Amino acid sequence: MALFIGVDIGGTKVLAAAVSSTGRVLRTARRETPGRRVEARLVEDALTEAVEEIAGVRRPSAIGIAAAGFVDAQGERVRFAPHLPWRDEGVRAKLAERWSAPVVLDNDANCAARAEVVYGAVGNAHDALVITLGTGIGGAVVLDGAVHRGYNGMAGEFGHMQVVPDGRECECGGVGCWEQYCSGKALARYVREHGGPEDLTGPAVMEAAHAGDPVATAAFEDVGTWLGVGTANLVAAFDPEIVVVGGGPSIADDLLLAPARAALRESLVGAAHRTVPPMVRAALGPEAGAIGAAYLARQTFRNAGTRA
Ligand code: BGC
Ligand code: NA
Ligand code: ZN
Repeated sequence: MALFIGVDIGGTKVLAAAVSSTGRVLRTARRETPGRRVEARLVEDALTEAVEEIAGVRRPSAIGIAAAGFVDAQGERVRFAPHLPWRDEGVRAKLAERWSAPVVLDNDANCAARAEVVYGAVGNAHDALVITLGTGIGGAVVLDGAVHRGYNGMAGEFGHMQVVPDGRECECGGVGCWEQYCSGKALARYVREHGGPEDLTGPAVMEAAHAGDPVATAAFEDVGTWLGVGTANLVAAFDPEIVVVGGGPSIADDLLLAPARAALRESLVGAAHRTVPPMVRAALGPEAGAIGAAYLARQTFRNAGTRA
């Protein structure tokens, strides 16, 4: 059996997965992302460990990397990554050499979107938006069933649209970016700023909200509302058939999506005169990025190496 691996590197964690030809996750391995102010080598080490844990003694047919950053149109370099140390780094070739395996590289949200198109929630929709919430906001524009790349390969960087002039500082160097108000990190921040524990993570906020904690519930209201407002702007621009929301916080489902849908309807231009797209939870959840990366690897190298 051919072995195709997808590895998703975000601002907080690394998730590697062996993925079947039908998009099923067979095995996973996890590491923490070492940080964004560390040497790039440390991030590459974490990726390598996760990939090696999956591969064991086998030689992967190909590996796909879903990176939380601006990947060039050729899929060779990470040009910039607010949450990772890579700056104009030839990540694809570097890791292909280190791993002695064929490697493909794309933006994490683009990978997640591809997985949702092929196996998940996009279904038969031709035009869709995919929004992934994690350390930041990942985005992808699906046009005619394909992920739209843009001139630099950087289309879909929704997280850095400025939503508050003079707002919160962002890791990208800007201020008032959408992801500072709407992300897993923003959830934890809300709780912290409203008298909750200092070190609460996104999943812990979700648990607290499910248990009826009022501050945690309000955090989802707040972040969900920001999600809807930002989505209204994107819908005004792209007029998609469906909006798919993924990443860790999307597991909270209606806790997040109910306020988001309300805000979308309220903020969207001409809402009474159009079909407002449904906002739905990603079918593949937080594993979508790794699944999409493995899919890309399989599509690109399906005829190389061992056949299934
Ligand atoms: C980065 C994107 C990435 C997203 C989600 C953003 O801060 O700019 O490239 O897709 O975070 O990880
Ligand atoms: Na993207
Ligand atoms: Zn930013």
